[in-house]
Order: sequence, then C-alpha cells, then structure tokens
Amino acid sequence: MRVIIRDTSLQASEYIADYIISRIKAYKPSESNPFVLGLPTGSSPEIIYKTLVRRYKAGDISFRHVVTFNMDEYVGLPRDHPESYHSFMYKHFFSHVDIPPQNINILDGNATDLAAECASFEARIARYGGIELFLGGVGSDGHIAFNEPGSSLNSRTRVKTLAYDTILANSRFFNNDMAQVPRMALTVGIRTIMEAREVVIVATGAHKALAVKEGLEGGVNHMWTISSLQLHQHPLIVCDRDATLELKVKTVRYFESIEQAGTDARTQGPPLVYRPRTYVPAPMTVNKSNGELTPIATPEKTSKDLRINTDLTRSFEDDELTPDSMSSRMVDSAVGGLDATLKGDLMFDRMGARMEAH
Ligand code: GLP
Repeated sequence: MRVIIRDTSLQASEYIADYIISRIKAYKPSESNPFVLGLPTGSSPEIIYKTLVRRYKAGDISFRHVVTFNMDEYVGLPRDHPESYHSFMYKHFFSHVDIPPQNINILDGNATDLAAECASFEARIARYGGIELFLGGVGSDGHIAFNEPGSSLNSRTRVKTLAYDTILANSRFFNNDMAQVPRMALTVGIRTIMEAREVVIVATGAHKALAVKEGLEGGVNHMWTISSLQLHQHPLIVCDRDATLELKVKTVRYFESIEQAGTDARTQGPPLVYRPRTYVPAPMTVNKSNGELTPIATPEKTSKDLRINTDLTRSFEDDELTPDSMSSRMVDSAVGGLDATLKGDLMFDRMGARMEAH
C-alpha cells in the first residue's frame, strides 16, 4: 500500500492530477494502444478534473489517446439530469479536453436490460485489455464506486441498491431531499477495480477519516470495501491531513517516512508489470434508437500468450449474501447478457483456470 499525505485537499488533488499525467505520458499512448483510465464522480475528484483541464489547456497533456470507463451511474435518472454522472463528467472534464467522444464509456442507467448493459461494459473493458489506472473516491462508509458495505469482494459490474448512508450523503445534490435520490445504481464491482493495473484513491476531509482508518489499519473486510485494496499490487491512497485523523500516529509517520526517504509513490514498490496485451479495437456499430456506439462482434485475434478456455463451467462464487443486489445473485450478472461468442473474449474470467500453456 502506498499512501501520500498532503496538508490540504488542493495539494492532494494536484498530486493526483500530476500523477495521472505522468502515468499517461510514460505510457506513450497511441491510437492503436490507448491509455485506459477508470474515472469517478463525487466532490473529491472535482479539483483533480479542474487541474487536468488546466494542464490540458496549458499543453502539458492530451487525452486524444485515452479511453475512459466511469465507475458508476444512477439507475433511472435521465442522462441529462444535472446530477447524473453523465452530466457531471461532461461538465467537469470531458467537455473541456480533447478526448474523442467514442473513447468515453459511461454506464447507461436507463438501459432496458441493465444486466446486459453491465455485461457489455465489462466486455468493453476486456476488449481494451483492461484498465491501466482506476481513479476512485471513497464514501464515508468506506465504499468504492457504489460497492456498498456487504458487497462481494469478488463482484463485477452490476446493479446495486444504495445504502442508507449513501442516499443520505448524496441527498446534498438533490435539494437535501432523500426522496429524490435514486435508490439504485450501476457500478463496477470490486473485482473490476482490482483488475486494474493500478488503483488510485482520493480521500479528503475529516468525514473520510474512518474509512481511511478501516481501509489501511483494519483487515480486509466486505463491510469496508476500500480495504480490498490491501490485496491489490499497486494501490495508492492520497489523503489530505483531515482524512488521516483517525489513523494511528505510528501509521501516519510510517507512510510519511517512506516519502521522506525519497521514494515517492512514483518510484515506490516494484515497477508496474503490464499484462501482455494485444489491443484489438472493438468493431462498433451505431445503435439506431439512441445513436450510441456499441461493440458488435468478438475480435478474431486473441492475445498470443493468453488463450481462453470457453468451456469453463461457471460456479456461483460471485453471488453476494446481501439481499440488496438481486442482479448480482444471478449466475453472473456481468456476463449474463453476453452471447456465447462474446463470452470467449472476456479476459477477466478466472484467468488462472482458463489459461492454457502453449
Ligand atoms: C458516491 C460515488 C463514489 C464516491 C463517493 C464519495 O457514492 N458513487 O464513487 O467515491 O460518492 O463521494 P464524494 O467524493 O462526493 O465524497
């Protein structure tokens, strides 16, 4: 675990913006090999987006060869509602940078078949060879994306019913009226996040201090889904001072000493090891009803060194015990809507079991 502490939320946000820019630049993305970036909404990332936009306008970074996947979206909220995550992303980021619209992926919370929408989202991530860097915020109850307390740590993109705490917290965007907050959302799963090569979490404010404490000092626990990052190879949590208020002095000093030793997050730990990836642009088609681009067929080429055994019989291990997420109790809501051909294209599905030696 890498933890960076800054005195203010502005400094923490600027650190992250700078970090993302350096990662994109180091990657040297191109049209055939774009940088795949996972993105959040919420108050916490606002300054990060502002800084990224400023740096783009200053000519420091281009998003032309960046593909984005947003973490979540409300169910049933019109896309053009000011509080939809679509609106948020265009308002704070996409409208101000040079990202091509076809590179933007946001879950459609108004899809007629929500399970198929979730499956298609996972499939699109897989087609791009996985997410390079997933940026996220954290709820005060420790949730990442909308993976509420009790979520399966093995979950994929699916429908979630929002927890009371989240509805209460998010009511500030809906005239402080809890009744106006959607009760459900589509969200990437913990496993979707864990499969990113790197996860960066922003945590600012005293109201995040308990979540940071549980995430860093507690055990891995589905009641604080942020704690799942303890099992990730390249997690980075960037906090402001207030978000560390519940941490032990010893914990804070330890992480600060690591940075003071001259190895900041960009050089700490083992170098990022990239999975072999062969990027195959997904064939797209225009959906006549809503004008959206959607993938149509399985690319013919598969990675040279990864072959997938499509005969695998699924088990029920993705099920969750909490009763609030019916779609995740289906055999696998993330692949439920896929046809047989597309299933064969999913890199994520129990890679170990599915890999065949050449
Ligand atoms: C929502 C989002 C999360 C976000 C959290 C915290 O629940 N789904 O992705 O991390 O809110 O938001 P904020 O940054 O506004 O505190």
